[in-house]
Amino acid sequence: MASSSSNILVTGGAGYIGSHTVLQLLNAGFMVSVVDNLDNSSEIAIKRVTELAGAKGKNLTFHKIDLRDKKALDGVFSSTKFDAVIHFAGLKAVGESVEKPLLYYNNNLIGSITLLEVMGAHGCKKLVFSSSATVYGWPKEVPCTEEFPLSAANPYGRTKLIIEEMCRDIYVSDCSWKIILLRYFNPVGAHPSGYIGEDPRGTPNNLMPYIQQVAVGRRPALTVYGTDYKTKDGTGVRDYIHVLDLADGHIVALQKLFKDSNIGCEAYNLGTGKGTSVLEMVAAFEKASGKKIPLVMAGRRPGDAEVVYASTAKAEKGLNWKAKYGIDDMCRDQWNWASKNPYGYGSPESDK
Ligand code: NAD
Ligand code: UFG
Repeated sequence: MASSSSNILVTGGAGYIGSHTVLQLLNAGFMVSVVDNLDNSSEIAIKRVTELAGAKGKNLTFHKIDLRDKKALDGVFSSTKFDAVIHFAGLKAVGESVEKPLLYYNNNLIGSITLLEVMGAHGCKKLVFSSSATVYGWPKEVPCTEEFPLSAANPYGRTKLIIEEMCRDIYVSDCSWKIILLRYFNPVGAHPSGYIGEDPRGTPNNLMPYIQQVAVGRRPALTVYGTDYKTKDGTGVRDYIHVLDLADGHIVALQKLFKDSNIGCEAYNLGTGKGTSVLEMVAAFEKASGKKIPLVMAGRRPGDAEVVYASTAKAEKGLNWKAKYGIDDMCRDQWNWASKNPYGYGSPESDK
């Protein structure tokens, strides 16, 4: 059973989902070590998480290390006996992965292989892995259940699929491993303090960070990709989930790893089970922020699915977890973060 003395290693813990999860772990009484190379994140996020955690902030240790640096990673495992690992670290931009596939295979696959090797060598065999709804490819129907056939639509998605397969193979080879694969749908929102949130480098690929940058005046308009889908208003439909719900999903997954003796390697969707269109999301954000979001209607973005949302039944039953927050909460917290930090962890100068 997880106790306040449990030591958890979080890879990618300075990133968007990682920083929120680290905060929830600290609040729940865990000792947390973060390994991150800060490739797509800022050490300021770590400092803010430490502050938000108050007295429990002292239980957070940060290592600026690339996961592929096996010697350095081995040193971290030698200095602390970890009870489990949550593995967020990876590159995640779909378009970039199409342009630079080897960068993605190198970073995501070699990083994960190195981590799994070092974990095995130190007898740490409990893992929660950040997978994605992208492993369902273009789903033929919705809601997506964990039993759907898996496929990859781009190199990023292929790295998720391969890492999932590696985990299944590792468990087959040694059944003392316990692995939970969490397939996230569309994480949005921020901690209600407005002190930590998503801060993508360069032009955002995803809807919410883009809307947010239009609202604070960094970009003139949102381009709506596709208005002729067979959906309620013609725009794409997704399952947006508050990052706090997602973070809680990791805590319950960890607890399952500690509690259940026979869990093997198991995948769970983390979504709300509700589909929201692009125009509905824009309307909710306008309501939360009081800002008008100018729109440019455009053609479909290549590779986009029409409608994707989760079946949540397995997570509800197996993890005893259900998302609590709705679209209005997500937009309120996203705007609170954006209005307090219009340039994220950076400054107008770093926005060049
Ligand atoms: P993020 O980029 O904010 O966080 C990832 C972190 O990993 C960053 O801090 C980055 O610096 C670090 N990192 C990358 N490669 C590394 C390496 N080789 N060594 C050490 N650190 C490294 O992304 P996020 O949105 O927080 O996503 C976290 C995980 O969840 C990723 O694996 C991502 O693929 C997955 N995921 C994200 C989404 C999403 O929409 N945000 C959806 C599904 C799955
Ligand atoms: N969209 C726009 N304009 C934009 C950005 C997005 O109209 O500027 C639309 C898209 O066409 C889509 C919806 O908003 O209909 C959501 O797009 P996102 O890029 O935010 O999210 P996706 O579902 O397309 O993809 C994201 C990640 C994937 C991941 C998937 C599920 O980019 O890597 O969520 O987790 F696999």
